[in-house]
Amino acid sequence: MIFPSIAWAAYLKEWHGPVRGERPAGYIIILGDKSITESFSVDHGIAAQSIMLGATEIGLGGCMIASIKREELRKTLSIPDRFEILLILALGKPVENIIIDPVKDNDIKYWRDEKLNHHVPKRSLDELIIKF
Ligand SMILES: Cc1cc2nc3c(=O)[nH]c(=O)nc-3n(C[C@H](O)[C@H](O)[C@H](O)COP(=O)(O)O)c2cc1C
Repeated sequence: MIFPSIAWAAYLKEWHGPVRGERPAGYIIILGDKSITESFSVDHGIAAQSIMLGATEIGLGGCMIASIKREELRKTLSIPDRFEILLILALGKPVENIIIDPVKDNDIKYWRDEKLNHHVPKRSLDELIIKF
């Protein structure tokens, strides 16, 4: 019910997301309760990261998804207007081989090689720690 409302990996133009049998086994939809506040700031990001770290610890893989057809999903799952749909965490047993590469020429686009390894360029610690 959830899969059709989400978009996967915009940089991989030839890939339309995981096929049946490789799709996430579970999802967590993080909602913001607008009766408490209308401004959700960074809290859901912190929660999402903690959940992903916990999932990784027990051998699961996950993907945070923000590209969501929100009104379609709201109807499908009868989510009341009081709740803002903030993020979806898709979880499952990972099947892909991930290779972390250094970022070159500021290009952070992930890509797949001919053996279908998924390459993700990441900035180095030296670049991330800013010294003035
Ligand atoms: C806030 C946020 C929103 C994201 N939204 C999407 C999305 O809508 N679709 C998608 O395929 N990946 C999305 N991603 C990327 C993946 O969750 C993931 O970060 C990416 O595949 C790289 O994996 P890594 O962060 O484990 O290196 C999003 C990431 C973040 C942090």
